[in-house]
Amino acid sequence: MTHHGLFISFEGIDGAGKSTHITALAEAFRAEGRTVTLTREPGGTPLAEKLRTMVLNEAMDPLTESLLIFAARRDHLVTVIAPALLRGDVVLCDRFTDATFAYQGAGRGFDLKVLATLEQWVQSDEGLLGDPSGNAPMKPEVETVIEPHLTLWFDLSPEGAALRLAGARVPDKFESQPVEFFSRVAAGYAARQQGHPERFARIDADQPREAVWQAVRQVFVEKGWLSGVAGA
Ligand code: TMP
Repeated sequence: MTHHGLFISFEGIDGAGKSTHITALAEAFRAEGRTVTLTREPGGTPLAEKLRTMVLNEAMDPLTESLLIFAARRDHLVTVIAPALLRGDVVLCDRFTDATFAYQGAGRGFDLKVLATLEQWVQSDEGLLGDPSGNAPMKPEVETVIEPHLTLWFDLSPEGAALRLAGARVPDKFESQPVEFFSRVAAGYAARQQGHPERFARIDADQPREAVWQAVRQVFVEKGWLSGVAGA
């Protein structure tokens, strides 16, 4: 890739507690002079947010659901993520394609091969990540798939997550699923980590919030992406 941006996604079952840490990480990057694009999936653009409302609130078969999620992802990649990476931003994205493999694949039992095909189509970097200086061809010799440089997986037991979610807000279609569904989703995330060990960092989310934050910070300090001074 010819851009200097950083693409980071955050994953975990509902109730794993990732949101506060994403906000804190955005502040830590800004404190070190980086421009941050804070976004989420499904969503992140006006069109994708409309699709999010449908996906989270309406009953539909798993293929329809997967197509809508990947349609939202394509719009998000084209209009927000790829331009931000070309500008050199740090893109912090609350969920990305691992969630589709975990929720629609492992959780709902939808065909992983179809999801892998959609991933290839939707995340193709053809024409999206050229060199802004114009020195590199917009169409790379070898087409690659845009994916996060790093995925933070907040791993929490489904029982622990259910306790945290209880009474927090009116549950959406996924949040109201039984604990067995989240056991399958958690197994789906574990399988994605096994398939992409170099991209995944597992965070033990079954700790007090401050300890989780220190674990998150440490991942970025070790990679040299944060200096380790701010937010300590
Ligand atoms: P959020 O509440 O963390 O914003 O996530 C929205 C919900 O959408 C969450 O229950 C997980 C679900 N989801 C999927 O089922 N598939 C996906 O690909 C994504 C990104 C989210």
